[in-house]
Amino acid sequence: MLAIQIDRHGGPEVLTVREVPEPVPEPGEVLIRSTASSLNPVDWKTRAWDVGPELPATLGWDLAGVVVDGGGTAFRPGDHVIAMSAQIATGRGTWAERVALPTRLLAKAPTTVPLADAAALPLAGVTAVQALDKAAVTTGTRMLVIGAAGAVGGIAVQLARRAGAVIDALVSRPDHHDEARALGADKVGHTLGDLPDGAYDAVLDTAGLDAGRALAPGGRYVSIADHPLPDVPGAVKSYVQEDQEQLASLAALVERGELRLRVAHRYPFHQARAAHERFEAGGNVGKFLLTF
Ligand SMILES: NC(=O)c1ccc[n+]([C@@H]2O[C@H](COP(=O)([O-])OP(=O)(O)OC[C@H]3O[C@@H](n4cnc5c(N)ncnc54)[C@H](OP(=O)(O)O)[C@@H]3O)[C@@H](O)[C@H]2O)c1
Repeated sequence: MLAIQIDRHGGPEVLTVREVPEPVPEPGEVLIRSTASSLNPVDWKTRAWDVGPELPATLGWDLAGVVVDGGGTAFRPGDHVIAMSAQIATGRGTWAERVALPTRLLAKAPTTVPLADAAALPLAGVTAVQALDKAAVTTGTRMLVIGAAGAVGGIAVQLARRAGAVIDALVSRPDHHDEARALGADKVGHTLGDLPDGAYDAVLDTAGLDAGRALAPGGRYVSIADHPLPDVPGAVKSYVQEDQEQLASLAALVERGELRLRVAHRYPFHQARAAHERFEAGGNVGKFLLTF
C-alpha cells in the first residue's frame, strides 16, 4: 500500500508517497481503508520542525474510512468510521491507504455528510471541545474566539453558540468577517485594536496573540497556540488528547446538522506537496482534505 512519509524534516518537498507494508492490526485494533484525511497545522510543523516520532514516519492525524477487518471488536467490515490519531506522540500516522488503529480511537462516521468530508472533524473538533471545557463556556458566557475563521476556531464558535455563549470573533483579515458571522459570532474584528478592554469572561485563542487586556477580571484565557501565554491570571494552554466519547458526540452533532463542516479543497493524496504549499500560505476558509 502507499503512504505519505518523511525521511527528514523540511519543506513540502520532503513529503514522499511510497510503498510500505500494510499494517497488521494488533488485538483490539481495526484495519481501516482510508477514504480521506485532512491537513492540520501540526502536520506541516511535524514535517518542517525537528519534532515527532523517529523517521521515516507516516504523517497525519485525521481519518475517515471504511473498516476492512474488525479484528473481533464491535466494528464490522463496511462500517464507516472516523478517528483522531496523535501521530506526533505515537507515530501512527493516518496518511496511508490502510491504517490500523485501536478501537478506543474510533467513532461512527456521520451518515448525513460524505464520508470524506468527515475527515475535517476529528482533530479540530476534539481540540475545540477540550478548549471550551477549559474555558468553562456556558449560557451567557461573554466569549472571544481568536482565529474564528480557522478550523478549530470555526468549530469552537459553533459549539460555544450552542452552549448559549455570546461570541465575538477576531479573524485575520476583513474578508473573513462574513465567515465568522455565519458561524455564529456577533461582533467581528480583525485587529487587536478592535477589542474592548475587560469585556470577556472567556477567551479562546487559536492564533497566539497577546489579547489579555480583553479578558474581564476573573475570566478564563485558554490558548491552543504555540506562542507564550499573555500575562493574565489563570491563562492556560489546552493540549488535545484523544477522546472517543467527545469524537462520537461531535459526529452525532454533524449527523443531526447541528455542526457544520467546512471543506475548502480536496487533493488526491499523491498531491500532498501541493496541498501543503497552499495550506501553509494561510488565508484559507475551510479544511484541506487528502483523498485516498
Ligand atoms: N494545542 C493543541 O492541542 C492544538 C490542537 C489543534 C491545533 N493547535 C494549533 O492551533 C492553531 C490553530 O489550529 P487550526 O487548525 O485552527 O488552524 P487554522 O485552520 O490555520 O486556523 C487558524 C486561524 O487563525 C487565523 N489567524 C492567524 N493570525 C491571526 C490574527 N493575528 N488574528 C486573528 N486570526 C488570526 C488564521 O487566519 P489566516 O489563515 O488568514 O492567517 C486562521 O483562520 C495552530 O497553531 C495549531 O497548530 C493546537
